[in-house]
Formats: sequence, C-alpha cells, structure tokens
Amino acid sequence: MSFPTQRPRRLRRSEALRNLVRETRLTTAGLIYPMFVCPGTKVRQEVSSMPGVYQQSVDQIVEECREVESLGIPGIILFGLPETKDARGASSLGADGVVQRAIEAIRKAELKLLVMTDVCLCEYTNHGHCGVLEDGDVANDATVVILAQQALSHARAGADIVAPSDMMDGRVAAIREILDQHKLENIAILSYAAKYGSGFYGPFREAAQSAPQFGDRRSYQMDPANVREALKEVALDLDEGADIVMVKPALPYLDVIRQVRDAFDVPVAAYNVSGEYAMVKAAAQKGWLDEQRVVLEILTGIQRAGAGIILTYHAKDVARWLKA
Ligand code: PBG
Repeated sequence: MSFPTQRPRRLRRSEALRNLVRETRLTTAGLIYPMFVCPGTKVRQEVSSMPGVYQQSVDQIVEECREVESLGIPGIILFGLPETKDARGASSLGADGVVQRAIEAIRKAELKLLVMTDVCLCEYTNHGHCGVLEDGDVANDATVVILAQQALSHARAGADIVAPSDMMDGRVAAIREILDQHKLENIAILSYAAKYGSGFYGPFREAAQSAPQFGDRRSYQMDPANVREALKEVALDLDEGADIVMVKPALPYLDVIRQVRDAFDVPVAAYNVSGEYAMVKAAAQKGWLDEQRVVLEILTGIQRAGAGIILTYHAKDVARWLKA
C-alpha cells in the first residue's frame, strides 16, 4: 500500500492554516453601495423585489450614507428617480435634480464617502430607453451629447466619479472632453464598458422605475454570448479616457472579468446586480440558503475572478460580517 507524499489537506487542518494560505481576501475596502434617490422628504420606500434596499429622499440618503461610512465602505453610487420624465431625459440635467441635490447634501454633511453617479437616461425618459429616440431607435450621437451634459452636472454638484451605463458608442470621450473643458479634469470616469443585455436587471427596473416601455435594450447592450467583444469595448473606453472599467452583471460573466483583468492594467470593477441580489435574498428568506455564507462566497468569487471593485447591494451586510 502506497501513501501520498502530496497532502494538500495539511494546509486545511485549522482555520489558522487556512487563513495563512488564503489567496483571496475579501475586504470592505473594494465595495461600493448603490442607492436610489427620489423626490420629497422623509421618504423611505422598500423595493419589494430587493429587501433591504430603499427608494429614499435626499434627507434619508444622507442618513444612510452616515451608516455606510461608519461601516468602512468607501463609496456609493447614486441612481435618480426624478419628479418628471420626458422624451429626452431633461430632468437629469439641472442643478436641482434629485441626484445633484443628493450629492450636495452628502458634501454638506462632510462625509468622506466617494460619491459616484450613474450616468444614463433610462430613469429620466418617459419611454424608459437609455437614450433619445429617432425613428423608433435609440439615436447614438444625440444621446451622447445629453449624457455628457448630465455627467457635467453631476461633477459640478460634487461627484468624485461619473459612471456612464448607457452603452452608447463614444460617450466616454464626450464626457472626458466636456469635463476637461470645464476644469473638471480630476473627476474620474468609471465606464460600464462591458454591460450585457441581461435578465438580471429586472428588480433594478422596479427600484429605478426604468423599464423600457417598448422593445428591449439589445440594440445597445452586449450579447451575453460574447467575450471578445467585451475586450474590444474595454479597449475603446480606455482609449477614450476611462479610468476604471466595469463588467456587468458579475456572476454569469466571471470569465469576462478574468479576461479583462488579464488583458488590461487598470482597475477593474464588477456589478453584482439586482437580480443576483434578489435571488439570494429570496432563497435565504425561504430558508433554502445560508445568506451570509453564500454572499461571502459569491463576492469572494467575483474578486477571485479579478474584480478589485465590486458594486453590490450586499455591501452593508458584508461590512458587518467582515467586522464581526
Ligand atoms: C441604467 C442601469 C441599469 C442598471 C444600472 N444602470 C439598468 C439597465 O440597464 O436596464 C442595473 C443595475 C442592477 O440591476 O442592479 N442603464
């Protein structure tokens, strides 16, 4: 009888040994918490498909931001639910818009949080598409002009990072140009570079009231089957001046995250999206999954795939668990 000389189990014997040889250490330092800001005061309405996530007025956003900061989470990303919607998303541009007012209030509260904003039109258009329509299709170049103005207004309000999520061609260059023209050259761009046309955005569209009223987003978001195209999108966005690139969603696209990580020497983010969150929450509520265990496993997997930055609705829970 021969015995193995290689015994990988030696290093799994105790938590001390496992911890010593652990390759991926999930930390709160890479997490970004998404938040939904709506008009009014004292509004805090839970999103039914996303337990623990709220549509909140500016005053409530500031309160939750204090909590987020105290948990050691470095930043948030803001999504706006405007008072009014029209064909061109005009309510996304003004200094008195919901997102702009939220940024200002967070700044006034002297929080150290990094404030990131989602730059897109779908929450602000009455048709729910991410751009303006011409002949029934989303018009690329006309949309890019508006997106650049929106990014400028977020930056003027005090955003640290603007994050275009629309998937129009050339929007990163247009945003970089308008920011630089207005002496906002230090405002960073996180581009949703490889954003797939995904069924996993379902709950978000309830949260952000941004479901398209006709058709779908397949003429601008990426085909889930493609990875070479993702590398092309990332290369283009970096060429146009993106500082951080993102892959979205995360779980069905871990291979994309890995390939982007290997091919480019820039910070890579991943968005652990609403549907990924909702699945875990629903199963945990039924007692079918151990929430803490699977969330930590999921986020470790996303980080192991190569994402140093993870946008996730689980951020507050994870920060608490990692502290404990
Ligand atoms: C806006 C936007 C979406 C998400 C982030 N920004 C929705 C979409 O493209 O339909 C999804 C985020 C999530 O599902 O958590 N374009």
